[in-house]
Amino acid sequence: MTPELMEAGARLRTKHAERSNAPAGNSGGRETSYGRVVQPGVVDVAHGAILYLDDISVSFDGFKALNALSLSISAGELRCIIGPNGAGKTTLMDVITGKTRPDAGRAYFGSTIDLLRLRENQIAQIGIGRKFQKPTVFEHLSVFQNLELALKADRGVRASMRFRLSGAQLDRIAAMLQLIHLTDSAQRGAGGLSHGQKQWLEIGMLLMQDPKLLLLDEPVAGMTDEETERTAELFLSLEGSHSLVIVEHDMKFIGALTQGKAHRRVTVLHEGSVLAEGSLAQVQANQQVVEVYLGR
Ligand SMILES: Nc1ncnc2c1ncn2[C@@H]1O[C@H](COP(=O)(O)OP(=O)(O)OP(=O)(O)O)[C@@H](O)[C@H]1O
Ligand SMILES: [Mg+2]
Repeated sequence: MTPELMEAGARLRTKHAERSNAPAGNSGGRETSYGRVVQPGVVDVAHGAILYLDDISVSFDGFKALNALSLSISAGELRCIIGPNGAGKTTLMDVITGKTRPDAGRAYFGSTIDLLRLRENQIAQIGIGRKFQKPTVFEHLSVFQNLELALKADRGVRASMRFRLSGAQLDRIAAMLQLIHLTDSAQRGAGGLSHGQKQWLEIGMLLMQDPKLLLLDEPVAGMTDEETERTAELFLSLEGSHSLVIVEHDMKFIGALTQGKAHRRVTVLHEGSVLAEGSLAQVQANQQVVEVYLGR
């Protein structure tokens, strides 16, 4: 290598370091990617984890909503998170999606993407989809149009209305309608759907954007028993191809998601930290968990 080339390389490195503004010795596992080709925009899950949170704390006026919380989600995993009201479950999702900045800690998507450096819209773009508790569909558009818009979300509403769907895109929408049990309602206005159907439509809209990680905050709240069962089936069908983090109070639903599958882990949050983690049977047998739920 010539000195000129070495100097050019050094300049590039300095520029990169400046841009990434990384404090020395705090690379969050980024060194571990050296020697492997990491493509921009590709989530590196070679170490198995799609989401890695370490020692995250969030304070609101001195009150610790999250307190040194650490959590790791494997690629393709379906993880349930439970915990009493105020445990920090929604705050945890706010941190992952960039809505709330933690006071301390590290948050990585795959082993190379530092979530704490990205804005909310950038985090959505790299493949983290979030479903809030209240369904937010376009009520005045049809079910089909809602999915169509989600598919072309990156174009903006006006441009996407002008843009014609390809055959492959039509097939994707048809497949999604089937997955979310709304094929027969494709041309109906979304405003006329039941609460559960709106929730499914919103999940479908999220899936159209092909997220790698889906965060669902109380997805079955307000659903009928039948809708809840169907939602469990839908999430189970996504396991493996997507990573899912599901926050719920409905223990029947958590039971349906984990039944007969001891490898599906349940995390119990309490006062901003992980209190217990394991199979549903394990956490339900945990004395501390029992005390927290019985209110001591
Ligand atoms: N923006 C905020 N300002 C002040 N306090 C907040 C804020 N957001 C959350 N909190 C507090 O942080 C704690 C954790 O709230 P969070 O919403 O994360 O709980 P949760 O586990 O989602 O509860 P729930 O099961 O009721 O949805 C609560 O005590 C809440 O009052
Ligand atoms: Mg909440």
